[in-house]
Amino acid sequence: MYRNTYALIDTKKIYENVKCVVNNYHYDYYIGVVKNNAYNHGIETINAMIKGGINYLAVSSLDEALQIRKSYSKIPILVLEPIDLKYIDQCDYYNITITVDNLKYVKELLEIKLNKGINIHLKVDSGMNRLGFNNATELKLSYELIKKKEKLNLEGIYSHFATSGLNDKYYNLQIATFKKITNDIDLSKIPIVHLDRSITLVNKEKISFCNACRFGMLMYGISGKKPTLGKKQKVKAFIKKILGKETKYPKELPLNTAFELYTEVMSVRKVDSGKYIGYGTYKASEDLFIATLPIGYADGVDLSFRYVWINGNYCEILAETMDMIMVRVSSKVKIGDKVEIIGKNIPFLKVCENTRLNSYHLFNKITSRVTRKYK
Ligand SMILES: Cc1ncc(COP(=O)(O)O)c(C=O)c1O
Repeated sequence: MYRNTYALIDTKKIYENVKCVVNNYHYDYYIGVVKNNAYNHGIETINAMIKGGINYLAVSSLDEALQIRKSYSKIPILVLEPIDLKYIDQCDYYNITITVDNLKYVKELLEIKLNKGINIHLKVDSGMNRLGFNNATELKLSYELIKKKEKLNLEGIYSHFATSGLNDKYYNLQIATFKKITNDIDLSKIPIVHLDRSITLVNKEKISFCNACRFGMLMYGISGKKPTLGKKQKVKAFIKKILGKETKYPKELPLNTAFELYTEVMSVRKVDSGKYIGYGTYKASEDLFIATLPIGYADGVDLSFRYVWINGNYCEILAETMDMIMVRVSSKVKIGDKVEIIGKNIPFLKVCENTRLNSYHLFNKITSRVTRKYK
């Protein structure tokens, strides 16, 4: 690492977050969702997850699965998207669980000669309209074909929720759809059944036929947050309550985000009133001092972050470029001073609020160019 810009990941917090979920919700399998490099925290965090109780991993592609397999030889890994069957030998060799989501795929898979054998999870489309079986007959036929075939192990079945189910009925509809599509299959004969994701796991009743849950956000420290209501919103909420249409907010588990972001001052200069900063987007209306920081929109940090924290002060971001941002500082700021972009003084959720990004987008916004350091 030769640039003093880094994300600091607290693996102890990830461990504690997982432990908190495991202690509060009881399942046989806790599937940790670690796609996109563990939501950008780095696959180095997986050890902490496993210590906390994660006993299965889920990723989005075979590339991600193989990357993880290099460092974690034993834990089962499920790829959530169907894999091109040309690469199935890799799954066979490296023990990667595949998602099967249509009958044609099953028929093609049956034609392939396998060596060790493959674990399969069937994916049901209960309402996302993205991937999965949406037809009971095709699902049943696929189930039978897989069951009969040597070296194919039908290990799991799952689906994904589109909504939280807190203020909508779509969640119930998805459960009903899942039951309908799987009606001809004995779910109790499938070792791993998983539907829940973070928000539904925490906020809805345990689904009676599930013995596993899949979650990402909870591991990374996000459960739910009740918004602070202004006067008008409080009145609206009161009226809704009287009408029996009360808004339900997610439960807040005692979780902590583990992701902080730092850089340091690379250059300081005085800019005279009337001069432009950066690509002419900001004109100084008075004499001011600015600090240039080695982090830019190519790293995921831009004007939308609004301010950073240097030596006990919030400093407004005045200009963004691909690799650097310029912030307003006092004359006391020096080259080498530490800069917090996400941390104790500007918490992760505050940055979500400033950037108007939800946590999924913000975690994925800080690019891999930023070095990850681990506590
Ligand atoms: C299929 C699937 N399962 C589980 C998850 C994890 O969701 P969450 O981070 O909300 O728990 C995702 C996230 O995108 C997903 O696509």
